[in-house]
Amino acid sequence: MKQLKILIIDDEKLIRWSLEKHLTSKGYETFSAETGEEGVKLFETHHPEVIFVDNKLPGIQGLDVILKLKSLDDEAAIVFMTAYGSIETAVSAMKAGAAEYINKPFAFEEIEVIFENIKSKIKIIKEIQLLRRQQKDIVTFDHIIGETSIFKQIVQLSKKISRTKTTTILLLGESGTGKDMFAHAIHNESTRNEKPFVTINCSSLPETLLESELFGYEKGAFTDARQLKKGLFEIAEGGTVFLDEIGEINQATQIKLLGVLENRVVRRLGGTVNIPVDIRIIAATNRDLKKAVDEKSFREDLYYRLKVFQITLPALRERKEDIPGLADYFIKYYNQQFQKNITSITDSVRRLLIQYHWPGNIRELRNVIERAVILESMSTLQAESLPGEIVSLSEIDKAASEVNDTPLFIEPDLSPFKFNIPPEGVSLYEIEKQIIIQALVKTGYNQTKTSVLLGISRDTLRYKMKKYDL
Ligand SMILES: Nc1ncnc2c1ncn2[C@@H]1O[C@H](COP(=O)(O)OP(=O)(O)OP(=O)(O)O)[C@@H](O)[C@H]1O
Ligand SMILES: [Mg+2]
Repeated sequence: MKQLKILIIDDEKLIRWSLEKHLTSKGYETFSAETGEEGVKLFETHHPEVIFVDNKLPGIQGLDVILKLKSLDDEAAIVFMTAYGSIETAVSAMKAGAAEYINKPFAFEEIEVIFENIKSKIKIIKEIQLLRRQQKDIVTFDHIIGETSIFKQIVQLSKKISRTKTTTILLLGESGTGKDMFAHAIHNESTRNEKPFVTINCSSLPETLLESELFGYEKGAFTDARQLKKGLFEIAEGGTVFLDEIGEINQATQIKLLGVLENRVVRRLGGTVNIPVDIRIIAATNRDLKKAVDEKSFREDLYYRLKVFQITLPALRERKEDIPGLADYFIKYYNQQFQKNITSITDSVRRLLIQYHWPGNIRELRNVIERAVILESMSTLQAESLPGEIVSLSEIDKAASEVNDTPLFIEPDLSPFKFNIPPEGVSLYEIEKQIIIQALVKTGYNQTKTSVLLGISRDTLRYKMKKYDL
C-alpha cells in the first residue's frame, strides 16, 4: 500500500510538532495547519487520506471542519481530538463523520491503534470494491475463444503486453470483435488487477460532461460544482482506464488527454495543482483513426501516443474457422442459462453459420445462438431456429445454383482433385475434415504417414485432429 498522507489541524504547536515528528518517523507524509481554514486549504491541495482535527480551534470549530472536509471528500478518514472527558463532543464528531476520536493528552501507542483501525477500514472498503468487481464475471484470456493462428498470435501478444505496467494500448476492430473483452482481459491479467478498471464510453456524454467525468472538478469550478469531484483518472489510481470510442473526443479533451499521457498527471477543472496518476490507458475505437488524423479531426501527436501498442482484432469473417468453436461455446453457455440441453448442430446449420458474413461479428453470432437456443426444441440445433437473414442467404445461393445448371465457362480438368460441389453448397471446413478422415483411415491412423500424405507437418495434423474432434 502507498504511504498514507496525513494532515494535522491543531492550534497547539506542541501537538502539531510531536505528531508530525512521530508520524514522519513512521514513514508517513505529513502536513499541518494551525486553523480550520488553513487545514481545509491544505486538504484541497494535498488530498491526505487521514486528518487529525482538534475540537477547539481559533476560527471555525473542529466539528464544522469535519463537516466541511466530509463535504469535500466523503472518503476522508478523520480523527477527532478532544479534551479528556467531553464524551458528548466526541459523539457529535462521530455523527458528523469522524472515523475515530482520541482524548488529549494521548500516548503514541493510542495513535498506533487508531492507525491500525483506519488502515483496516480502508482495506475493507477496497476489498468490498474488489469483491463487487469479481462478482461480475471476471474476463481473462481463458474466456477468449479462437484457434486460428492469426487470432492466437493476437492473444499471445496481448498476454505479453498485459505484463507491462503502463504501456498504452490501442484496440482497433469492427464493432463486436471483442475490444471490450480484450481490454478487460488485459487488465485482469496484469499486476493492476486488484485495482480499479474504469471504463468510459467517450461518445456517450456531451463534451463538457466527458471532460469533468475524466478530470473531475474542484468545488466552485463552475456554478453546479457544489463539491469536489474526483475524475475517473484519479478514481482509477493504480488500475486501468478504458477509453472506449476514443475517436469521438473533441479537440479540447484531446489536448488534455495528451497531457495525461505525456506527464502522467491530471488537473481537475478549476484546480491549480497537478495530481500524479499511476494508471494504464487502453483506448478503443472502430473508426479508422489514421483517416481521422489525415482529415485533421484527430490529433496526430495523440494518435502516436495512443498507438504505442496497437492491436487490431480481425472481423469474424476473416477467421471463419473459428465460427464452429465459438458457436459451440455460446451453445454451452446458453444451455446453462436457459436450462436447455442442445448437444450438437446440424451440418446445414454449421454451413449457414460459416457462410454468413457477420457484419456484427462475435456479438451478432452470440445473439443468433442465444435466440436459436431459446427457440430450439430438439437436442440438435436446426436451421429453422436461425434468423431469416442467415438462412435466406443460402436460399438465394441455392436458387442461383438451380438456375445455373448450364456452366458459363468450361472448367479446367482437375480430375485427380475433382470434387463435386452439391447444389446446396458445402463448407470447406467439412471438406477438410472428411479428407483428413479419409487419409487417417488409409494409413491406419498413422499420424506420420497421414501428415506426409496430406503434405502438412505432424503438428498441424495434430492441431487439425483436435479441432475436428478426430
Ligand atoms: N474471442 C471471443 N470469445 C468469446 N466471446 C467473445 C470473443 N470476442 C467477443 N466476444 C463476445 O462478443 C460480444 C462483443 O464483444 P465486445 O463487446 O468485446 O466487442 P467490441 O469490439 O467492444 O464491440 P463495440 O465496438 O461494439 O464496442 C461480447 O458479448 C463478448 O463477450
Ligand atoms: Mg466495446
